[in-house]
Parts: sequence; C-alpha cells; structure tokens
Amino acid sequence: MTKYFIANWKQNKNQAEAIQWADDLISLINTDSKLINALNSKKIEIIVCPSSPLISVIKNKLSSLNNLSLGSQDVSKFTGGRHTGEIGAKTLSDLVKYTIVGHSERRAQGETENDIESKIIQLQKYQIEPILCIGGEKDKIYNNISFLAYEPVESIGTGNNLKLNEVLKMKKRLNLKSSTKFIYGGSVSSLNIGEYLGTNEIDGLLIGNASLDPKSFYNIVAKI
Ligand code: PGA
Repeated sequence: MTKYFIANWKQNKNQAEAIQWADDLISLINTDSKLINALNSKKIEIIVCPSSPLISVIKNKLSSLNNLSLGSQDVSKFTGGRHTGEIGAKTLSDLVKYTIVGHSERRAQGETENDIESKIIQLQKYQIEPILCIGGEKDKIYNNISFLAYEPVESIGTGNNLKLNEVLKMKKRLNLKSSTKFIYGGSVSSLNIGEYLGTNEIDGLLIGNASLDPKSFYNIVAKI
C-alpha cells in the first residue's frame, strides 16, 4: 500500500526559492537509502504542489527521483477559451499528475460545490487525478473520486492537528468506497506524523506549513 505525502506550498516562494527547495530535498533524499528504496518500490509517493508558475521551474529537477509527482493547487472550472487569468486542465495536463480541489482556503474565497464539480469534470477529461479536500461531512463527496483529503478547518495552519482517533471516527462516518485513498491534512509535522503513519486506515498526508522548508518536509517523509 502506497503512502502519499503531499506538499501544499500555497501562495509561497519565488523561482529561486523553489529551485533551492528542490535541490535541498533531492540532496537530503539521496543520502537516505531507506527513503530511496521506499520511492523505488512505490511504498511512498511524494506529490509537490507549488503555485502554478513554479511547477515547470522544478519539474525537470525533481524528475531525478522516482515516484515523485507534481500537482497544482487549483484548476479552472471552464473549458478553454475566453477566460482571462484562468489556468485550465488542458494547460496543466502537460505538467501535473494531480490537482487539489475544494481546499477550504478556496471555498472561503467563494468556491461552490458546483464549481468543484465542474473542476473535477475538467480534470478527469485530461486524466489529472483530483485530490478532493473536504472540511467535514457538510462538504459533498463525489463518488468518482480516488483521493479524498479530510482537512478540518480548525486544524489548518493552527498547530492543532486532529488526533488520530478523531480522524478515524470521521473516516468511518464518511463511509468511503474501499478503493478511495483517505488523506488527512491539518498541522501535520515531524512531531505528530508517527501517529498517522502507524495505521493502514490513512493513505497519506497533506502538508502545508511544514512542507515549506525542505528539511522539515524531509523529516516528515523520512519517518516512513
Ligand atoms: P497546514 O496546511 O499543514 O499548514 O495545516 C494543510 C493544508 O492546508 O493543506
């Protein structure tokens, strides 16, 4: 069973910082044979989600590692055409394997369930895997989704990670298909990661703040 480690950089970093991050992460991983083996054997997959203009800046560099993929943090809900400022699934499809949709920070900016549904349709049309984020039971779960990230809003960026038993209680309530990958996100760090890695019930982690520094992200992934 693969464990997914998803780095969500949010609105951070410029080109130089992104390149430095990628160089540092590669150096750290290359000194860790256990981690190299875990990547080579698909025991883990690392998914890096920078802001969209930075994706192509680090893509080639990161391709030196196996089972490391790029993702975007959002996608346009529209089919291509007259939509100034939007980044569509067609454009992203050359660059990423995954896209985060429905993040609470986007929902807070007015993204609706209809928007999310349209985004999922766009992504699937271009064979990009949506990682659907929900804050709880009130958010709709689309049943053609393979990756579901449960991110309680009170836990995002607050240092108050939700304890494992509470995360698992929610998973039970969500009643997901057995094939759906269940991801937890919200103040995950190297100090609490062990809790989530100890169970097969959690397929991966979505990591914001603690992914911004390559050493701190490495320290999380290295706990595998
Ligand atoms: P956090 O962010 O790790 O900083 O809490 C997680 C997220 O928003 O995906």
